[in-house]
Formats: sequence, structure tokens, C-alpha cells
Amino acid sequence: MTDLASSPMTARRAGPCSGRVRVPGDKSISHRALILGALTVGKTQISGLLEGEDVINTSTAMRALGALVERIGEGRWQVSGVGVGGFSEPKEPLDFGNSGTGCRLVIGAVAGCPITATFDGDASLRKRPMTRVLDPLVRMGARALHVAEGGRLPVTLQGARDAIPIVYEPPAASAQLKSAVLLSGLAAPGETTVVEAEATRDHTERMLRHFGAEVLVEPFGRDGRRITLVGQPELVPANVVVPADPSSAAFPLVAALVVPGSEIILEGVMMNPLRTGLLTTLREMGASIELLTTRSDSGEDVADIRVRATALTGVDVPAPRAPTMIDEYPILAVAAAYAHGTTRMRGLKELRVKESDRLAATAAMLRGNGVEVEIVGDDLVVQGRGHVPGGGIVATHMDHRIAMAALVMGLAGEKPVAVDDIGFIATSFPGFPDMMRSLGADLA
Ligand code: S3P
Repeated sequence: MTDLASSPMTARRAGPCSGRVRVPGDKSISHRALILGALTVGKTQISGLLEGEDVINTSTAMRALGALVERIGEGRWQVSGVGVGGFSEPKEPLDFGNSGTGCRLVIGAVAGCPITATFDGDASLRKRPMTRVLDPLVRMGARALHVAEGGRLPVTLQGARDAIPIVYEPPAASAQLKSAVLLSGLAAPGETTVVEAEATRDHTERMLRHFGAEVLVEPFGRDGRRITLVGQPELVPANVVVPADPSSAAFPLVAALVVPGSEIILEGVMMNPLRTGLLTTLREMGASIELLTTRSDSGEDVADIRVRATALTGVDVPAPRAPTMIDEYPILAVAAAYAHGTTRMRGLKELRVKESDRLAATAAMLRGNGVEVEIVGDDLVVQGRGHVPGGGIVATHMDHRIAMAALVMGLAGEKPVAVDDIGFIATSFPGFPDMMRSLGADLA
């Protein structure tokens, strides 16, 4: 739906993409660096922080909860924390805008403190489920004083005076859910354990260790992990270098694959194995993706990646891979449309509760541009014909990743592809249109 304040944009076919770019810092790590910095007594320095709206909202929430958060340069931030259990009661509701991650992680961090806080967000976030995160936190001693109808925001939470450690098996493969329980468990005596049937991104576990907490991670079943946190640690300040976000790199990466003659280099992209499902899948499709230099930054491997335009072939993407590429399906669907043959992406139930119903929005994005696509149960099935007719106007539904995926699709379309609103791109990838133009894209 287009409203008066929205800003549309159109992508057109132009020459090849070429150049070398570094996309902004990883969103998951940026949120966690601010939150854990705020739970640490002393000063934490962060460099490469993503200065997107989602992360800025988390920084504002940390200030409202009593931490001193300062921007000391481009991407350079300093947090003087209050320690585990040390948050003070915020005077106003905490507004997380479009960000499920910021909201759910901070709900977890507050649940272990004896304060009351109200959590809110924009129209997209107000549609997303919050009960899934409140249920375990209530078991840990927090009280949900108010929850809007349907288990949605706004939520008012009273944190536990004496948090209780639990053993928790999340009902969905969700790093946000796992992280909320672990952050609440910081305040609990003894061990808080999360047993996940499918391993999800492990940035919280890694960063808790980086800040001095004791965290044990063991394999569980075929694809899962058992994570045990020893509660009430004395978190010690630690500097964080935020690597480039693989979920943002995915957009120029697929652009370079589908725009004929392209060759680009993406610098310093995080290679955490729980985030690289898209690279695995694109390589199975035949993509020319080369890892150049690899190194390690703050406990995460990073690489420069060279991508060359390649003819792609459709593949079957197994459901257990979904947690390692959960944010990448809209852009994978674009690659699938330009591929030859059928791509079936399996087990995408969680996409229905993202910034939009991303399963429906992705299918509509393709269909509206002449691509044959079907939703079968929780699977997305795309018939790749090696080209995309284009000519559609894509409804982004307040979803940054739908907007960016649609614009990338237009860069090689027979006709241009328009999106109704690029405003939400700034939540995760400020400067996206300019960076794409610097590579040769025609976005206007
Ligand atoms: C995130 C976890 C994922 C992902 C989101 C970031 C995180 O959500 O979609 O963009 O930083 O923990 P879920 O945990 O709900 O799958």
C-alpha cells in the first residue's frame, strides 16, 4: 500500500556491476554489542557499528535504561554499562521501530532486572508475535503486566527481582528467542540452558564469552545445540569490531551474479557458519563466488569475496539450512528467477513472522514481475527462465529486504521494476541506493 509519505524507487537494466565495496556492519552483532556493553561495568568501545535505524533504536533504549552511550566517530561508539541487573526504570515506553531483534533481546535483558518497562514499535513490529518470547521469561520470574491483543506490542513487563534459571526448548528455530532467554539468565543464579533442535546464529553465545561469561555449547541431535550459561557473571568490558553484514552483502552479491558481465569484490564480510547458507546455496546453483583473504575479527571469521556474473541453475534448498539463511530468501528467490530450472526452498514457516509475511511478499514480488512462483505448504517454488520480464510495482509492506530484493531484480529485468517505498531500507542498510549506484546500478 502506498501512502503520501512513502518514497518509491525504480531499478532499470544498465551496464555490468563492477567495483569494490564494504557493506555496513552486521545488524545482529551491532544490537548485541550495545546490549552487552550496557550490561557490563566499565567502558566498551565498538567500531564498525551499523548506524541503521534498528540499531539506533537499541542505543536509545540502552540510554533510557541508564547506560551512557556515546557516538565518538563514524561507526565508533562507546558504552559505559551499568552491570547485570543494573538497569534503571525507563520514564517512557521503549520504541524499537521496525526491529524485532532489538525489541526481543532487550525484553530478555530487562526480564532479569527488578524494573517495569513498556516495549513498543511501528505498525510492522506491532503485528509480530511476542508471546513466544514472553512465555519463557515468565517462567524465569518476569510478569507480563500488559500485552496487546493477540500477544502483540505494546507489552509492559515487570522484570524478576530474583530471576529463576530454566532449561528451555524453543518451539521455533529463533536466535532472538534463544538470546532473550540467555540475556534474562544472566541475572539468575545457577545455569540457564537453551536446547535448540536446529542451531541458529550464535552471536549471543560468542559475545557473552567475549565479555567474560561462562557459556558451554554442546552438539544436540543432528542439527541442534545445547547452550548452558552460568548466571550472575561479572561481565568485563571488551572492545568489539563489527564485521560487514552478510545479509546486506547478499544484495550486491546477487546483483553481480545476475547482471551480465559483472564482477565485484565485497570486503570484510562475516563468514560465521550459521550465516553462510546463501553462499552454499548459490554455489550449488553454479555461482562464481571466490573467498579471497580470510581473517578473524573479535572472534568472527571474515573474508573478501569476489563475485562474477554466472548462469545459475535451479536447486532444492533443504529445510534444515533455513536458520543459516533465514533473512536471505527474498534475494535468493530473485537469483532463482534468473536461474534456469526450478528452485524449491523448503521449510519457510518462520518467514511468515518477519518484518512482513515475507513468504507471501516474496511470492507477490516475483509474480507481479512475470515470474512463475507458487507457495506449497511452507515451501516457495520458483520456476527460473533465465530472465525476468519485470514491469511491476512491488509492495514492500514496511520490509527492507523485500525493497532491496525487488530493486536488485530490476537491474537485469526486461522492463524496470519499481518499489512503492524505500524508506525502510535505512533500518538495516543505510546508503544502499548510493552503494549500488557506485557499482553501476541504475536506481532512480
Ligand atoms: C536475528 C535473528 C533472526 C533474523 C533477524 C536477526 C538475530 O530472527 O531473522 O534478522 O539477530 O538474532 P529469528 O531469531 O526470529 O529467526
